[in-house]
Amino acid sequence: MTESTATSRFTSPGSAPAADYPVMLETKGWKDYRLLDMGEGQKLERYGRYTIVRPEPQAMGSRRLKPSQWDRADAVFSGDTDEEGPGRWKFSGNVQELWEMEYGPVRYNGRFMSFRHVGVFPEQAAHWDWVNGQIRAERERNPDRPLKILNLFGYTGLASLLPATEGAQVTHIDASKKAIAYARENQALSGLDDLPIRWICEDASKFVAREVRRGNTYDGIILDPPKYGRGPKGEVWDIYTSLPGMLKELQQLLSKDALFMILTAYAIRSSFIAVHELMAETLSRQGGLLESGELVIREDGGHRALSTSLFSRWSSR
Ligand SMILES: C[S@@+](CC[C@H](N)C(=O)[O-])C[C@H]1O[C@@H](n2cnc3c(N)ncnc32)[C@H](O)[C@@H]1O
Repeated sequence: MTESTATSRFTSPGSAPAADYPVMLETKGWKDYRLLDMGEGQKLERYGRYTIVRPEPQAMGSRRLKPSQWDRADAVFSGDTDEEGPGRWKFSGNVQELWEMEYGPVRYNGRFMSFRHVGVFPEQAAHWDWVNGQIRAERERNPDRPLKILNLFGYTGLASLLPATEGAQVTHIDASKKAIAYARENQALSGLDDLPIRWICEDASKFVAREVRRGNTYDGIILDPPKYGRGPKGEVWDIYTSLPGMLKELQQLLSKDALFMILTAYAIRSSFIAVHELMAETLSRQGGLLESGELVIREDGGHRALSTSLFSRWSSR
């Protein structure tokens, strides 16, 4: 693609952003993560030293690996197949509650959590790399420009730590004291305690509304909300009813020369076109480019792909 066609993909501020979809953002895995196999409603993954079996409704096909390879899994999560459904872990042999993994300059803990979570969403790696690419490109253009990033529903903090390693000032919001503690543990584990990160335990909607009142702005915004969630004081988050209002406020938090805004949505009965149209409405006068589609994980050996979530990302250049 020539430089000119690349820049022509971006419209100028004041007009609607150019649109590009479907875009499939693929994660192939890394030293500490591989999708080994999937089928019959389950997936077999390796997280660092452990292989894990979890329900995966989208894995409707046949398994490629022998049953013995599945039977050798260190941990199996069985329970409700609904994404957020309850269930429990069954371990074979001596499995640690915590184990270390790494992604680039960041070290993080894996841990067996409720709702089948293990402390990291590997498909988010596609976003982590893209965000750091945006920051590096802006550094080349404006080496002395301070960059402020807001990461909402930040969970265990990888999407906060990685941009901070590129010199961005990051504000990390999550309603769970536990999640904030896990994120700070990952910061310490990575020896990155000096990085400029504000860890804030608060309801995301409340935080955003206050930032609008204060007139604060950010150069990059990342949000990865659950379908349903609760703030520290029981504030209700329902992606279908809460997201439209939050996006309108987030548009006001974008700095004059903002770089990007990324939305990821999990387990919702909608197509990526729905989040695309919502973002397009919110950013109708922002110019730039709006790309939407799915976050996909590629099976080890490049065989099949597994879609994990929907995304829509706006970039100014
Ligand atoms: C698991 S993560 C990321 C979402 C993940 N992609 C998913 O679908 O499960 C969701 C994060 O949102 C946080 N959260 C839920 N409701 C929230 C709220 N109202 N305000 C801020 N954070 C919230 C949770 O504590 C959790 O760390």
